[in-house]
Amino acid sequence: MGKAVVAVVGSAMIDLTAYAKNLPVAGQTVEGELFTTGFGGKGANQAVIAAHCGAEVHFIGKLGRDLFGQSIAENFNKLGINSDFVDRSDTPNGVAHIWVDGNGENRIIIIPGANYEIEKERAIQGINSIKDLSIVIGQCEIKQEITLAAFTAAKARGCTTILNPAPYQQLSQELLAVTDWIIPNETEFKELHGQLPTNDEILENFRNGKNSIVTLGSEGAVLISADGTITRTPAPKVQALDTTGAGDAFVGTFAYGLACNKTATDAMSLGVRVASLTVTRKGAQSSYPTQAEIATLS
Ligand code: RIB
Repeated sequence: MGKAVVAVVGSAMIDLTAYAKNLPVAGQTVEGELFTTGFGGKGANQAVIAAHCGAEVHFIGKLGRDLFGQSIAENFNKLGINSDFVDRSDTPNGVAHIWVDGNGENRIIIIPGANYEIEKERAIQGINSIKDLSIVIGQCEIKQEITLAAFTAAKARGCTTILNPAPYQQLSQELLAVTDWIIPNETEFKELHGQLPTNDEILENFRNGKNSIVTLGSEGAVLISADGTITRTPAPKVQALDTTGAGDAFVGTFAYGLACNKTATDAMSLGVRVASLTVTRKGAQSSYPTQAEIATLS
């Protein structure tokens, strides 16, 4: 089997996370239990888990020329993620302020910073430069026009494109036209489709001639194939400590699976098992299993 080659065109952030049993309401101050600084950003998270799985990963993005940007660049380097198209900006690096409550549920505010300065031409050049590229992943923490340019270039060379519409924003018809797989979570599904994914009929009506997977948290994931077939993968029962980055773990693992020529159902099943493990640990990338741990899940 050849190497699974995956490119992520997306965001890289530093996550500043406060853990508190009960989160404050407006005007209230509460005492928390822990504060952490960690590597995050939906794009970088997806790239890192794909690299942990064993893919050859190329990241296309923009970091600040500051300490946060520097530490992300060093982390990519340490993990062997190709950064030939990771540029730097005088705009501060992107950050995410995250609150995690006693049930492991989070609330996130992102400040995109340098992530919003990725240039279209660089994204296209990056996609065109990668040898044997098979999968390109995008999200919505960078400008949509950049994802569109990258996906258009990816489709022109025969790659498969995966869009994780997170955080939700209205998607252009142009972007949907060059997207092969769309992977929302339940909240994003509701924003895209107007209803929560509570039954098969609602899921079937989401089709649009595309392959989709809806991630369902502790319920696992459901694949809606372009012909309307619905396939569910339940998640193992785990005690959730922190769900941050679990959806990204799913997307990056699924992309790795497709790049390895696994069936979509097998790739989804591996994605669910990896994502379930991440919620038992704190942080985004800090919760991701190693390649050896992933091998035990395959
Ligand atoms: O999906 C989780 C990620 O969302 C966090 O790592 C944070 O950086 C935000 O981008």
